[in-house]
Amino acid sequence: MSETPAMDSMTGLKRTHDCYELTEDHIGQEVVLMGWVLRRRDHGGVIFVDLRDRAGITQVVFAPEVEASVHQKAHRLRSEYVIAVKGAVRRRPEGMENPKIKTGMIEVACTDLRILNTAKTPPFPLDEEVEVSENLRLKYRYIDLRRPHMVEGLMLRHRVCQSIRGYLNGRGFLEIETPMLTKSTPEGARDYLVPSRINEGHFYALPQSPQLFKQLLMVAGMERYYQIVKCFRDEDLRADRQPEFTQLDMELSFVDEEEIMALIEGLMEAMFRDALGVELSLPFPRMTYQEAMDRFGTDRPDVRFGLELKDITDIGARCGLKVFNQVASSGGVVKAINAKGMATLSRKELDDLTDFAISLGAKGLAWVKIKEDGSWQSPIAKFFSDQEQREVMERMEAAPGDILFFGADLPAVVHKVLGEVRLELGRRAGLIPEEGFSFVWITDFPLLEYDEDEGRYVAVHHPFTSPREEDIDLLSTEPGKVRSRAYDLVLNGVEIGGGSIRIHRTDVQEKVFAALGISEEEAEEKFGFLLEALAYGAPPHGGIAFGLDRLVMLMAGRKSIRDVMAFPKTQRAQCLMTGAPSKVTMAQLAELYLKPGWKQP
Ligand code: AMO
Ligand code: AMP
Repeated sequence: MSETPAMDSMTGLKRTHDCYELTEDHIGQEVVLMGWVLRRRDHGGVIFVDLRDRAGITQVVFAPEVEASVHQKAHRLRSEYVIAVKGAVRRRPEGMENPKIKTGMIEVACTDLRILNTAKTPPFPLDEEVEVSENLRLKYRYIDLRRPHMVEGLMLRHRVCQSIRGYLNGRGFLEIETPMLTKSTPEGARDYLVPSRINEGHFYALPQSPQLFKQLLMVAGMERYYQIVKCFRDEDLRADRQPEFTQLDMELSFVDEEEIMALIEGLMEAMFRDALGVELSLPFPRMTYQEAMDRFGTDRPDVRFGLELKDITDIGARCGLKVFNQVASSGGVVKAINAKGMATLSRKELDDLTDFAISLGAKGLAWVKIKEDGSWQSPIAKFFSDQEQREVMERMEAAPGDILFFGADLPAVVHKVLGEVRLELGRRAGLIPEEGFSFVWITDFPLLEYDEDEGRYVAVHHPFTSPREEDIDLLSTEPGKVRSRAYDLVLNGVEIGGGSIRIHRTDVQEKVFAALGISEEEAEEKFGFLLEALAYGAPPHGGIAFGLDRLVMLMAGRKSIRDVMAFPKTQRAQCLMTGAPSKVTMAQLAELYLKPGWKQP
């Protein structure tokens, strides 16, 4: 198409309504609409255009008797042309109504049409029904975002933010910004670093979270802080992880866990009511970390369905299967899941599940099908006496038609593997409801856990989390037994937020650094400013941060946080639209004292 249609200006026209506003109440009114051409249909002289804007769609009609120039112009319209139309609202002829949409009973009979801009043929159709590859959507994100369900996601996100601000502003919170160019803080992921041009060899880190700054704001006497803030983490990406994501970050002084949890429950209630019209039932249930691990194998349990893990280490220790005996006698556990009624799984499906378990670190995934007569069909049946089989059946509440899956290993491995196998079985059996919101608080986390790879204790949350008062002395003797004052909020099996009461005393903070194997010099180097601040009258304080993208994703019923972010990155942390990250010139590198191609010797 070489012809470039002449374009018009908006002069003299002022938009009166959006494209999802007009109903039978407006019949007879003259209106001006502006938007994009979604579809144009020619019905022998009568031209129909579905005009779309952010709000929705209105049908515009160009009758044959309309002024010839207008009709001719309407002929030129193509998908995604930007137009303004003026005309009267009228009732659609009988049989042409579309009761499914709000504007479905009316149409606008156009008398003045302006083509404000033309458009190349879009790289994909904007009709909802069409599946489009995500890479194409990301490259042309500005077109993808025109699609109604993308608009809905961003609108929901907006309403969520408005609700958050309303709720917190009404409760004495101050919205305060914290720096993006800052010092590396240990939130557990790798930092994004920014070289300093005026300080050779020195780097800023982009914040993994505002953790230290919000604590310093408490020392500064701000008492109640919040921020909807970008955080940056250089980690392996998944559907619910992005290199830059948004937190609702909060911190309060002079509060305990109960007060924070109650405040958050109120916040969630307001948010779900304001943004979705959904009433939540409060308070949210709570579960200790230990119970979550025991029953679900994870600290973010999806409690919407059963298939819970049960411990059978005692039986495993006695049975005839060597792997189970060995695991039981060397600090490991044997646990099992009863997949109710799923004995129909094929050999192929069982092999796939086994491969899945092995990919997660398991050495195998033993299974037992319960036959009609209650006997076992299984490669491991012969290693269990009748008595042992009966005991397993009883513990697992197993019945004919069920299939049991076993994991034997160190607890961390068994929990990880069976936790994931449980979710996979739940998905396959269609046990996970599509609708509904199931919250659970996870409490009583250990403060530290032993990291085999690093050969030292690491913080389960972060190093500023307060230990329980009564456990402080254990820090130097049995660090693994110290309980923290942390809490996570889990929604539908996704960790949406986490926080804690913080350490506000220098001596306790020093003890925790020592338990983490952080030397005094290192602590001074990295966190000297915090230790010093704690010595200048730090109030007791605590807080929490939510993954806003995850929260909105769940509220919107989407599978990926990318669907509720305007400009997300790919799994390889690239922006397909702008081409970031990209090469820079040698001159830019030189200015930053960086050498290309340099590798650590
Ligand atoms: P935490 O590290 O648990 O806590 O982060 C808080 C919440 O942020 C979300 N989140 C992410 N969302 C998308 N992409 C990511 N890469 C990503 N990483 C984390 C999760 C998580 O629950 N400063 C502490 C909070 C505190 O103690 O107050 C912190 O950042 O939903
Ligand atoms: P094997 O004795 O190695 O043939 O294993 C018998 C069955 O037990 C197979 O189905 C294996 O997948 C399974 N299995 C082996 N090791 C483990 C383990 N550590 N945990 C659970 N199942 C296992």
